[in-house]
Amino acid sequence: MREQVVCKTTDLKPGDMKSSYFGKQNVLICRTLDGEFYAFLNQCTHQGAPLDKGMICGATTHTSTPGDYHYCRKGEIIRCPWHGREFDIKDDGRMLANPTKKLPSFKVRTEHDDVIIYK
Ligand code: FES
Repeated sequence: MREQVVCKTTDLKPGDMKSSYFGKQNVLICRTLDGEFYAFLNQCTHQGAPLDKGMICGATTHTSTPGDYHYCRKGEIIRCPWHGREFDIKDDGRMLANPTKKLPSFKVRTEHDDVIIYK
């Protein structure tokens, strides 16, 4: 099994993300508001933007009433810095607008204060 420490748990507050390296691959480490860690390839599926330059945000849902939108899922969505495509951190990096596309993802675990990617 291949594994590597990619950062410390204290490097990321809940709701933050940062880039790191897993071997030669540039990876994006995300920490959701519940404290869980996730890792994806740090490259948008559209035109390859570095996702760590984007933001972690939430999503909107709407009801059947026109113009009635609600903000939800705060801290669970990665928004690309170039054209705004959004990816669901907790759904394995699936694109919100087209769930057939997803970011390549990595398995993550924590041990003491290390964040470790493994496969
Ligand atoms: S490069 Fe990410 S949305 Fe275009």
